[in-house]
Amino acid sequence: MGSEKSLAVRDLTVHYGAVPAISGVSLEVRGGSIAALIGANGAGKSTLIKAITGLVKVRSGEVTYGGQALANRPPNAILDHGIALVPEGRRLFGSMTVRENLEMGAYRIHDAQRKAELLDTCLRYFPDLRPKLPSAANALSGGQQQMVAVARALMSAPSVLLLDEPTIGLAPAFVNVISAVVRDINRQGVTVLLVEQNAEVALRVSNYAYVMESGAVVKHGPSGVFLHDPDIKKAYLGL
Ligand SMILES: Nc1ncnc2c1ncn2[C@@H]1O[C@H](COP(=O)(O)OP(=O)(O)OP(=O)(O)O)[C@@H](O)[C@H]1O
Ligand SMILES: [Mg+2]
Repeated sequence: MGSEKSLAVRDLTVHYGAVPAISGVSLEVRGGSIAALIGANGAGKSTLIKAITGLVKVRSGEVTYGGQALANRPPNAILDHGIALVPEGRRLFGSMTVRENLEMGAYRIHDAQRKAELLDTCLRYFPDLRPKLPSAANALSGGQQQMVAVARALMSAPSVLLLDEPTIGLAPAFVNVISAVVRDINRQGVTVLLVEQNAEVALRVSNYAYVMESGAVVKHGPSGVFLHDPDIKKAYLGL
């Protein structure tokens, strides 16, 4: 895992039908760093993530990883570049077991030994999932399901991990587990883009942050500075 390649978005515009969802968005996630993307409901955060991962069509602008152009490539091609997604709402295969969900994440990896090692790594991050491996995913609590969603993405041995609101609706204990694992994964060299409505969590975990409003990036800077920025505090930290 790991690389120093940066993920960059330049002047990106995405429409749903005739309606622009994001326009002229630029950002960079430096290789080896954690960037946060915060903003209110409907700001365009998921649309940006979906554009990066090939799930919605880019109308104009660029997505590059290590300088290679990725805009409008299909989702499997994006994954082949080592960019994995933990989607909004988890999107688990509910009636399949936890083990099967995790194996789906490793569908590109054909070496059984390698798969077993990746599963071991995931269970080290989330030991609570080990006894749940034979259970149906939809029998798990929300927090456990979120762990499965993160672990499934890790099963592809990504270089870049994109997480879309991984802590929404979770109890504080689970928020802490997910945050700690995101930091750990990053320490292992994985570049992270973390989308969060919980700005406090996002700013504490990340090195650099982008703020979106109405489909545009309106502010960006070091996360530590934003934690003390009066405008950010008022708008996003509820202080
Ligand atoms: N499939 C779709 N078809 C039409 N419009 C959409 C679609 N998905 C999102 N939109 C619109 O695009 C805009 C951006 O939505 P998006 O889901 O990217 O926001 P978000 O920042 O992720 O919000 P949230 O915090 O609620 O997840 C919103 O105005 C939304 O209503
Ligand atoms: Mg969203």
